[in-house]
Amino acid sequence: MADITLISGSTLGNAEYVAEHLAEKLDEMGYTSDIRHGPTLDELTAEGTWLIITSTHGAGDLPDNLQPWFDALNKQRPNLSAVKYGAVGIGSREYDTFCGAIEKCDLLLNELGAQRIGETLKINVLEHEIPEDPAEEWLHSWAKLLKEL
Ligand SMILES: Cc1cc2nc3c(=O)[nH]c(=O)nc-3n(C[C@H](O)[C@H](O)[C@H](O)COP(=O)(O)O)c2cc1C
Repeated sequence: MADITLISGSTLGNAEYVAEHLAEKLDEMGYTSDIRHGPTLDELTAEGTWLIITSTHGAGDLPDNLQPWFDALNKQRPNLSAVKYGAVGIGSREYDTFCGAIEKCDLLLNELGAQRIGETLKINVLEHEIPEDPAEEWLHSWAKLLKEL
């Protein structure tokens, strides 16, 4: 199993590119990583460290490629107490439901016993033309917290 499993939800590609960028940075830091764009629940082991990166669509909804994973988690409600995770949301402040998708994921993972490491990063694309930049900055502080565990 890789040190960190990146789980991305994306419709237009932004969150996917951020996930790929962060995986590259994690590799440079010496972590092994595994990226899953819109995974099924079955392909993930309920242990280790996850990094969820998702944009928001509709009105606070998850992208279509991540919704099945979320729905399966919500239905099957596995015990995720052996999972630690980081959370990165990408959205636009022009919506009332800014970064609603990562908030939903965070809430559900927490309910299932997973432990979030660090604060959730919410990237406003109106403010950051290149979302990889704030994501990379956040990753450094997140990786520091991982080391302290
Ligand atoms: C139809 C539509 C609905 C959106 N709804 C939301 C929303 O509810 N909340 C939010 O924060 N951003 C919303 N956004 C902004 C997207 O999250 C943002 O453009 C993001 O960069 C898209 O990332 P992706 O390319 O990974 O899908 C919406 C964008 C579109 C096109």
